[in-house]
Amino acid sequence: MLEINRVKKVFLKGTVNERTALDNVSLTLKEGEFVAVIGGNGSGKSTLLNCISGVHFPDSGSIKLDGEDISFLPEYKRSKFIGRVFQDPLKGTAFDMSIEENLAIAWYKGRSRNLKPGLTRKDIEVFREKLARLDLGLENRMKDKAGLLSGGQRQALTLLMAIMVRPKLLLLDEHTAALDPSTAKKVLQLTRSFVKEEKIATLMVTHNMKDALEMCSRIVMMHEGRIVLDASGEEKENLTVDKLIEKFEERSGQTLDNDRMLLA
Ligand SMILES: Nc1ncnc2c1ncn2[C@@H]1O[C@H](COP(=O)(O)OP(=O)(O)OP(=O)(O)O)[C@@H](O)[C@H]1O
Ligand SMILES: [Mg+2]
Repeated sequence: MLEINRVKKVFLKGTVNERTALDNVSLTLKEGEFVAVIGGNGSGKSTLLNCISGVHFPDSGSIKLDGEDISFLPEYKRSKFIGRVFQDPLKGTAFDMSIEENLAIAWYKGRSRNLKPGLTRKDIEVFREKLARLDLGLENRMKDKAGLLSGGQRQALTLLMAIMVRPKLLLLDEHTAALDPSTAKKVLQLTRSFVKEEKIATLMVTHNMKDALEMCSRIVMMHEGRIVLDASGEEKENLTVDKLIEKFEERSGQTLDNDRMLLA
């Protein structure tokens, strides 16, 4: 469903700070696949997600989704069928809008809306039902502004907004990294059940190798803009955190000292 073919992205071309963030990356995702993307700082993980979502256009190569070449499709058009959750809980929701207004934006994105002002009673019921799934009591606070929510609550809401219209693809960029451990765990559990139930093809960037191994059916490891490991099936089932570290060191020629990847 997603076909990334030899995508290259160079930043600050022709300057002393020139940096090849993606070096001919190719990656194909199947329907419903849940893939973890791991790798050290600056290895190109966010740039890969930014090229898929249209924040950046590739310098060369192509990105296809369900056969359609979306390499140069503007970000706002892609957002109708690609859901995203970023690291920063403040990014995904509008703080001065209520929970139900935030949900309405996500709900009506990509649909032609009848121009009646306000939400219908049916909308509210659908939202309430969906919010209840988060198990955070937000279904009783629908008129509260998103700005009143904790980081974890906002991130759970953003996740719900990203998946409620069943996107073709879900992109998660360290979406639990800014949360305290117990909240992170809760949001990860929600992620896991949403992805499983809705069968949405998902790329999840994480620094936590344990989470990656536990949750995902495939592990992609990046280093200096390249994919240095792509493990699925039996190969993935046999991986452990220690083996992943070993493979990273073997394939990057670097030790993993002091890297956030070790914070598993
Ligand atoms: N907008 C930009 N302008 C210039 N350089 C950039 C830009 N975005 C990323 N880079 C550079 O591209 C490289 C890859 O960055 P990227 O953010 O994709 O890494 P990452 O794997 O997500 O790292 P982290 O784990 O720290 O989030 C880095 O060297 C980074 O400095
Ligand atoms: Mg990043």
